[in-house]
Amino acid sequence: MTHSGKIPIAVFGSGRGSNFQAILDAAQRGDLPGISFALVVSNNSDAGILEIARANGIPALHCSRKSYPDDAAFEAALLEALRSHDTEAIVLAGYMKKVPPGIIAAYRGRILNIHPALLPRFGGQGMYGIRVHEAVLASGERESGATVHLVDEEYDRGVILLQRRVPVLPGDTPETLAARVLEAEHQVYPEALRRFVETMVHHP
Ligand code: GRF
Repeated sequence: MTHSGKIPIAVFGSGRGSNFQAILDAAQRGDLPGISFALVVSNNSDAGILEIARANGIPALHCSRKSYPDDAAFEAALLEALRSHDTEAIVLAGYMKKVPPGIIAAYRGRILNIHPALLPRFGGQGMYGIRVHEAVLASGERESGATVHLVDEEYDRGVILLQRRVPVLPGDTPETLAARVLEAEHQVYPEALRRFVETMVHHP
């Protein structure tokens, strides 16, 4: 697959893939001229994100730790898949597993993630999905939002690239807040990716 001067991106996800769809839509609108989609990886063979990839002619790979005898074999297989697809940056879009340390090392500074809260608060191990919004509501915060950050060895700790704030409204439930934050995710991720790729030096 030629990338004609664009940065080949691999996307990792475990679920429905709405953030990936938002990034794809931005690319199809011409808002992400600097990227091409090299590969989509999911640990979940029936994840919606793999269906979205297939529907858009993007290589879709089910790759789960469960299919390998040990961490090293899983990491090697994932690294080989990334390299054989010329991957130069990784976008985590609802990926619920830890990225193996060898992948973080190989792509240090070039792995992005989206978190449904205003990091550094309401992040870290165990803070994902509806629990994040329950914690925000319980805290009495008047604002929440979405954060795009670089990924390192710790959950949700890397450099923050971009955030988008949303109000917490009276009467919000975790579900209504989650929906408002998800809309912000779909705006902030494509924009963060566009800016990030502009800063990257292309290593052909
Ligand atoms: C999003 O809420 C994101 O913040 C979190 O996981 C969810 C992924 O949703 N990392 P989707 O698969 O992109 O729809």
